[in-house]
Amino acid sequence: MSTHTPARTARPRRYLMCRPTHFTVDYAINPWMDPAQPTDTELAVRQWERLYRTYRRLGHTVELIDPVPGLPDMVYAANGATVLDGRALVATFRYPERAAESEAYQSWFRLHGYRAVRRAGHVNEGEGDHLVVGRRVLAGTGFRTSRAAHAEAEQLFGVPVVSLTLVDPRFYHLDTALAVLADDHVMYYPEAFDANSRSVLRSLYPDAVLADRADAEVFGLNAVSDGRRVLLPEAAKNLAGRLAEHGYEPIPVDVSELLKGGGGAKCCTLELRP
Ligand code: ARG
Repeated sequence: MSTHTPARTARPRRYLMCRPTHFTVDYAINPWMDPAQPTDTELAVRQWERLYRTYRRLGHTVELIDPVPGLPDMVYAANGATVLDGRALVATFRYPERAAESEAYQSWFRLHGYRAVRRAGHVNEGEGDHLVVGRRVLAGTGFRTSRAAHAEAEQLFGVPVVSLTLVDPRFYHLDTALAVLADDHVMYYPEAFDANSRSVLRSLYPDAVLADRADAEVFGLNAVSDGRRVLLPEAAKNLAGRLAEHGYEPIPVDVSELLKGGGGAKCCTLELRP
C-alpha cells in the first residue's frame, strides 16, 4: 500500500430503484434463496427506504420504477439494464421467473427519454454483470450473462468491454464479487474468478482493494461508491477498514432481508448515466 492516503472525490449520481412492495422468496435461482425460509416484506421495505434516504442525504438523485406484482426480484434494479451515455441496454434474463421484468424496464426507459433503448439479444443481466469503470466496462459471465452479450454491449456503447469469468455459484453476478470504487479503482474477491480473469484484474488494477472470504460471504462486494462514500453491509468489517486506508468513507447499510433473495445494496441500485 502507498504511504499516503489518496484524496477521493464524490460525484453526484443518478440512480434507479424499485421499492420491494412485492418482495418474497418463492423460487430459488441462486444459492442464497431458500423458499422455505420466511421473508418479511415490511422489513425489506424499511431497509430499502433507509438505503433510498441515504442516497438522497448524500446528494444523489433517485428515480423510481413501479414494482410489478408477481415479480419479487424486481427490487434488484441493477439487473434491469446497463446505462451509459444515455443509451440503455435492457436485460434479457436467464430464468423465466424474471423474464417479464425486461418489459417493465424497457418501457421505463422509453418513457424517460433515453436516446437508445435496446433489449439485449443474448442473456444479459444488466449491471449485475456489467460494471462501468470510467470508460471501460467489466463484464461477468459464467452463471448468468452470456459472453455474446458482452460483445453486444461493446458494440452499443463503443467502449472496451473486458470479459471476466465467475466460478463460484454463490457469486453468480459480477456485482457480488467486484465493486467499482472510482473511475480507475475497484475492489474484488479474487477467488470468485478463474485464473485468467484474476490475472486480467491484477494487470488492469494493480492497486485494487482485495476482499477476503468473510467479507465476500456477507456481500461486502455488493457495494455502491460515489467516488468517495462507499455503501456496504455492516458485516463487512475488514473491508470497511481497507476502504478507509484507501481514502474512502465506508457507510454501513443493513439490507439483511434483501440478502435472502441473493442481493444487497448494489443489486438494488441501477446507475443512470444520461
Ligand atoms: N434473486 C435475484 C436473482 O437471483 C437476485 C439478483 C441480485 N442482483 C444482483 N445485481 N446481483 O436473479
